Amino acid sequence: MTILVTGGAGYIGSHTCIELVKAGYDIVVADDFANSCMEAVRRTRKLAGVEFPFEKIDLTDYDATQKLFDKYQIDAVIHFAGLKAVGESGKIPLTYYHNNLDSTLSLLEAMKSHSVKNFIFSSSATVYGPEAPVPYNEATPVSRITSSPYGNTKLMIEYILKDEVKANPGFNAVLLRYFNPVGAHESGEIGENPNGIPNNLMPYVAQVAVGKLDMIHIFGNDYDTPDGTCLRDYIHVVDLAKGHVAALKKIKENCGLFVCNLGTGKGTSVLEMVKAFSKSCGKDLPYEFAPRREGDLPAFWADPAFAKEQLGWVAEKGIQEMCDDVWRWQSKNPAGFPQD
Ligand code: WQD
Repeated sequence: MTILVTGGAGYIGSHTCIELVKAGYDIVVADDFANSCMEAVRRTRKLAGVEFPFEKIDLTDYDATQKLFDKYQIDAVIHFAGLKAVGESGKIPLTYYHNNLDSTLSLLEAMKSHSVKNFIFSSSATVYGPEAPVPYNEATPVSRITSSPYGNTKLMIEYILKDEVKANPGFNAVLLRYFNPVGAHESGEIGENPNGIPNNLMPYVAQVAVGKLDMIHIFGNDYDTPDGTCLRDYIHVVDLAKGHVAALKKIKENCGLFVCNLGTGKGTSVLEMVKAFSKSCGKDLPYEFAPRREGDLPAFWADPAFAKEQLGWVAEKGIQEMCDDVWRWQSKNPAGFPQD
């Protein structure tokens, strides 16, 4: 079975490529390097032990995407490619709608014209929206709108896929709703490598630990949570990657539409994460409390029962291992991947 991994040079995509190869799949990686680079491809090939084919491509280009499917015999697509910075999406919404929606529609058209019927989508817990009861459960209807254009693209793509499954019996769409991916491959060779100043907590903390940034700013310590800081369901990126391999089982069962959370089922506070990272790097990290960040929810985490029941998948790695693995990646690569 050959899997096209779009965004496969990126953070979650590269870790998933390694697990797919380990599980015996052939892969083809497509990426436009908007948020990754060739060094990430080289290192992923080395860790996977396979010189898998790589295509640099803008998936919003319909013709180029059709040609990709002419060139390779694809059996399934795992679609990671997309812009994903919540804050940035609020500043350039049209770029996010064009990029994330056009690339997905272009992929689905190419799949249709090449009779490829299997699609796994990198969705997000953000689709549950601010009203959903915690822990988030797949039976909860998705929100009418999310807190950002980024989140709205995830919501819209879920609707596109649900409609495509309804109209095309035999088309399988697996929607995997991620919580907060963190961590890195145990080798320290690949990891999260955000462009510019990180929006997300973990890469920001890691860059303070390695001296690239000077102070952690904790957005709000007056929430109604045990220590006043927000709770999130942080999941190790390798556990997340294994969840995608497990999801292929549903594809083989011709599942039609299948929706599933990928989370640990536990909430960890910002302060707890900072303290765990201090333990990993062996130094007290400087932090200060700052005003709340607009759009942040106080606390949410997954109900992971459905993934366990349906996929036989459970997240195994804990917070300390997540921090240890990020520290190994960041301390070995203080400036991230070397650019070609
Ligand atoms: C986590 C907590 C912040 C940075 C987003 C997207 C989600 C997914 C993951 C993309 C919050 C606090 C953060 C900092 C801080 N998307 N924080 N100081 O917002 O839960 O989820 O990223 O991959 O779809 O919504 O993640 O890491 O940005 O924030 O105090 O410098 O850390 O307030 O409570 P978030 P995050």
